[in-house]
Amino acid sequence: MADNGAAPMILTEHLTKTYPNRGGKPIEAVKNVNLTVERGEIFSLLGPNGAGKTTTISMISGLIKPTAGDAFIGGHSITREPMAAKQLMGFVPQEVALYPQLSARQNLVFFGKLYGHYGAELQRRVDEVLAFIDLTDRQKDRIETFSGGMKRRVNIGVGLLHKPDLIYMDEPTVGIDPQNRRRILDTVKQLRDEQGMTVLYTTHMMEEAQELSDRVAIIDHGEIIALGTQGELTQQVGGQDQLELTIDGAGWSEELISTLEQQVKGVSRVQYLPPDEAALDGGIGLTGKLNVFVGQGRRALPDVIELLNRAGVDVQSVKVQEPDLEAVFLALTGRALRD
Ligand SMILES: Nc1ncnc2c1ncn2[C@@H]1O[C@H](COP(=O)(O)OP(=O)(O)OP(=O)(O)O)[C@@H](O)[C@H]1O
Ligand SMILES: [Mg+2]
Repeated sequence: MADNGAAPMILTEHLTKTYPNRGGKPIEAVKNVNLTVERGEIFSLLGPNGAGKTTTISMISGLIKPTAGDAFIGGHSITREPMAAKQLMGFVPQEVALYPQLSARQNLVFFGKLYGHYGAELQRRVDEVLAFIDLTDRQKDRIETFSGGMKRRVNIGVGLLHKPDLIYMDEPTVGIDPQNRRRILDTVKQLRDEQGMTVLYTTHMMEEAQELSDRVAIIDHGEIIALGTQGELTQQVGGQDQLELTIDGAGWSEELISTLEQQVKGVSRVQYLPPDEAALDGGIGLTGKLNVFVGQGRRALPDVIELLNRAGVDVQSVKVQEPDLEAVFLALTGRALRD
């Protein structure tokens, strides 16, 4: 029954969920998802509303049955060996699920008993979890008196009670104030770094996926459209850095574009916005804007500045824009993640 230690933490094979739809076309919520989550990594499922994140997590946690395909947790099939698979996982659902009239401690004790803990061992475990979620001093207060962020932290605590190897967190920061959000993100990293846990994290927020993840799968309309480290993903879409330079339009000449393109290593394209267009794009007064698209922005920057200076162009400010997951999503779907 135990985790055999050699299998990946999560492996999904052709995982598919189709919901019937009265009269209409069935809803293909998740289509043929194949992914592997390694032990000890934070893996994010990043996708917009309705992409299929919760449906995927619900299938791999055994809450709903796949229409087709299967998921293996530590080598155990979630459909054929659900008990063995579930033993390895903790689950933090998208909606907070706690008893509002019980205290934080009473909730943890209640769920701990459900997981089969009892006696002194249960009390010790509840103490540990309360300390970890930093709510020891509020443990006796009723959940209904807690802020949304504190409720979330208790919910995370519930998911950790039985010391799982793997924890699922479904958009745990939605609707949470920045301070609690920060704490939750730090908690996620601590779980990996201090406890060696594997975390499967879903979010529609690019910044969170970027900050937390070892690897990211981008999901859209039920399909994984890209998977890898942030670096791999940005490379896949030809991600280039963009140097944004504000320059004194006076010294500018059109030939400088081809000089920059030809003489600075790694530069693929240079775009010049004269002062009137630069103003629309955030420039001011008589300054123009130069966008230099280049493989490695920081490396190319000194050469770009030197070349401009030699030509008598005054550089007033510089920004290095590195490609992010938002750019990847946009390149793959033609839409912004936030639409
Ligand atoms: N029980 C259900 N019956 C019918 N359709 C469903 C059901 N649950 C989800 N869906 C549909 O499946 C698709 C994926 O939904 P899902 O909840 O997995 O998305 P999500 O990525 O978690 O979105 P969100 O960011 O809003 O939480 C959506 O089109 C949704 O309407
Ligand atoms: Mg969801």
